[in-house]
Amino acid sequence: MDVIPEPVRTHRHGPGFWELGPRTGLSVGKGADGTARWLRGTLGAATGLPLPPADGDGDDVLRLSVDPAVTGELGAEGYRLDVLPTGAHLVGGGPAGLFWGAQTLRQLLGPDAFRRAPLPGRTWRLPLVRIEDSPSFGWRGLMLDVARHFMPKEGVLRHLDLMAAHKLNVFHFHLTDDQGWRVEIERHPRLTEVGSWRARTKTGHRASELWDEKPHGGFYTQDDIREIVAFAAERHITVVPEIDVPGHSQAAIAAYPELGNTDVIDTTSLSVWDTWGISPNVLAPTDTTLRFYEGVFEELLDLFPSEFIHVGGDECLKDQWRRSPTAQARIAELGVRDEDGLQAWFIGHFDTWLSARGRRLIGWDEILEGGLAPGAAVSSWRGYAGGVAAARAGHDVVMCPEQYVYLDHRQAPGADEPVPIGYVLTLEDVYRFEPVPPELTPEQARHVLGAQANVWTEVMEDAGRVDYQTFPRLAAFAEVAWSSLPASRERDFAGFERRMSAHCRRLDALGVAYRPPAGPRPWQRRPGVLGRPIEGTPPNR
Ligand code: ACM
Repeated sequence: MDVIPEPVRTHRHGPGFWELGPRTGLSVGKGADGTARWLRGTLGAATGLPLPPADGDGDDVLRLSVDPAVTGELGAEGYRLDVLPTGAHLVGGGPAGLFWGAQTLRQLLGPDAFRRAPLPGRTWRLPLVRIEDSPSFGWRGLMLDVARHFMPKEGVLRHLDLMAAHKLNVFHFHLTDDQGWRVEIERHPRLTEVGSWRARTKTGHRASELWDEKPHGGFYTQDDIREIVAFAAERHITVVPEIDVPGHSQAAIAAYPELGNTDVIDTTSLSVWDTWGISPNVLAPTDTTLRFYEGVFEELLDLFPSEFIHVGGDECLKDQWRRSPTAQARIAELGVRDEDGLQAWFIGHFDTWLSARGRRLIGWDEILEGGLAPGAAVSSWRGYAGGVAAARAGHDVVMCPEQYVYLDHRQAPGADEPVPIGYVLTLEDVYRFEPVPPELTPEQARHVLGAQANVWTEVMEDAGRVDYQTFPRLAAFAEVAWSSLPASRERDFAGFERRMSAHCRRLDALGVAYRPPAGPRPWQRRPGVLGRPIEGTPPNR
């Protein structure tokens, strides 16, 4: 059956199958409307089956329901699927569980169920099984950086579908960075007029001498965002937006020079950054900046219902603050020790501001430096250490250590990998990732909300490159995030690899340009484009 992520319990009732046909009906219980819509739309397109409304008691019916007894047993994201010779019953602990069950059902129908139109002569059958399944973690995330290279809306919607197919439920949307601002903010129109495009782009690692002289840009209108958020919600995916402050902000400063450290540099001369690395041009810690970003976040809260709002906080170079009389005066006025304290104050301001509006702040683990704001949660990316410290201090944590789940890192050694960046993180390396580090007590481990894979796009200029870096490793990640193992059991990578050969046929049907196990296809290579491979095993792994 080769389901990925592997269900918690699978029991074969017998050797046979239930065959679906044009008269197969769909019985839709309370709470099942969304999954019924999705099944008719997606499976209906792939199979050509109309799935007409039916009575749940009849034969040849796929029965969908939500049952509080299953909620108690398997949680709201859990489901039970029973396939008998006469029909099937899919029951969710909640609407989300039912939807994840529908994803399993689609996998059981075979790879052609992932196409968008029926192939001639296909029959559709389900093995006679009972599957009981529920996730170990409530946060099963994918971060996509659309700032370094813009991904047009269609690509984002496609990624949400790909996430759903892997039972991932949090889309961390990295919307701003030095190289681009990607979300329309009505009260600050220059953020997109100026900040959403750059004149040219470094090709490859920043040490490369190649440039793409074609302007690069794009942004999502507020209606685009509403569409993306609604599309995600229909798939039980929460979109967590990220506006990166106070570092990674050169695009915003290029649009509104008053946001920068004007007493240190001439910020009117800045443009949206065209190369990679960490820009020294960071936000000025002034009231002007705070009010400006409160306005940004006000519009964001209207667009994104997510409880968590990501404020970045990573890699804020402090050199300009050290040299800025304004920043130094603020340090003195606040009575904080140094520039780290200034950053903690800046992040703390938005922690308070978001809390007052019923939301919660999340930031990269640098927000621990200088003191963590009271309500803040942490995305632990520089290994597990930040997450461990935060969980021990009673803060919630999402584990996304770069040593395991940074999918911009190359997938194999060798010169054929396109624009090889960082350490080698193979499919197996990602599969060996465990979100909860053993040094946490059970009480502390409860603060680990889950895990996330991160896709930074400096060297991913288009959707094909994003596919190549993301897949098949995202499938390994999805299994780890769905099903944490008891300490007594080893993960079976050989078994996973075997299931992956079936899963690759699903990805083929979906049109995903994943990295083949034997290495890149000729057109997936980028000969002559400089990367920055690092040899050896990442530290802390
Ligand atoms: C990060 O990778 N700078 C969060």
